[in-house]
Amino acid sequence: MYLDFSLEEAVRKRYSVRNYAPREIEEEKKKALAAFITSLDNPFGKKVKFYCFNKDAAGEKTKLGTYGVIKGAKHYFGASIKLEPLALEALGYEFEAVVLYLAHLGLGTCWLGGTFNRKGFAKALKIEAEELLPAVSPYGYAAEKKHLLEYAMRKIGRADQRKSWDELFFIKDFHTPLSKQEAGELAFPLEMVRLGPSASNKQPWRIFVVENACHFYEYKASGYSDIFPYDIQRIDMGIAAAHFDFAAKEKGIRGYFAADLAPNITLPKNMEYCFSWFRDELK
Ligand SMILES: Cc1cc2nc3c(=O)[nH]c(=O)nc-3n(C[C@H](O)[C@H](O)[C@H](O)COP(=O)(O)O)c2cc1C
Repeated sequence: MYLDFSLEEAVRKRYSVRNYAPREIEEEKKKALAAFITSLDNPFGKKVKFYCFNKDAAGEKTKLGTYGVIKGAKHYFGASIKLEPLALEALGYEFEAVVLYLAHLGLGTCWLGGTFNRKGFAKALKIEAEELLPAVSPYGYAAEKKHLLEYAMRKIGRADQRKSWDELFFIKDFHTPLSKQEAGELAFPLEMVRLGPSASNKQPWRIFVVENACHFYEYKASGYSDIFPYDIQRIDMGIAAAHFDFAAKEKGIRGYFAADLAPNITLPKNMEYCFSWFRDELK
């Protein structure tokens, strides 16, 4: 899929909003969001189902808690998948497209993969038994000030910081960092990956660049996903794919994603191959 707004502007504007203003979302923005959601697809060929709902309409008894993390939000969206290889990456890709679209519309969001009542939300959204609800997000206008817990979370998670290029992107092997100069035209898509959000801001994406291919790896934080029945950092990998893909398309760089094409290189501990992106032959 393509974006019809500036990816870079949306990426730079977006941050996790955890305190929302009482201001209503305009009807045309709600309609635009619904239309955008129907236009979604992903390069992994997995089905992702989206749900939008109003917390007030869900009724008093429905348990839609966020452990005090989100305040003032009326509107939420969520996405479900059947758990299978590349489905979490597909969800990361499409969900992040929605997050960026909402940023473009001037609306805040906050990925919630952990701090929400999963059972309560799944019930309210009528998620089918064989489906999984890995993430939801509030959306709406940001309040003028962040709430106290929000300040603390941003500070502890160093939410305003990102790892540097030499920790994330490699050439030849995982000991040789790729410079911006060596990246050439791919420097922009890689920079957009670097600025993305990730669970607990762990930034697990590592990219090994070989001429016209980028091989995406997950640097697994050990024990981090143990509380989930799946690897939540695979969602982060899908977010990386989205930022890379939209950035490449914006610059007219054509390519495609494929899985199971890992290069034959020695991997550091905790490094797992996910998928690759190949540039179309230059004509
Ligand atoms: C997959 C995923 C799950 C996340 N889960 C939560 C969560 O459960 N609660 C929360 O407050 N923030 C959550 N976040 C937000 C991250 O903590 C946040 O993106 C990161 O710290 C960077 O900050 P920023 O989004 O403001 O740039 C999640 C982000 C991602 C990508």
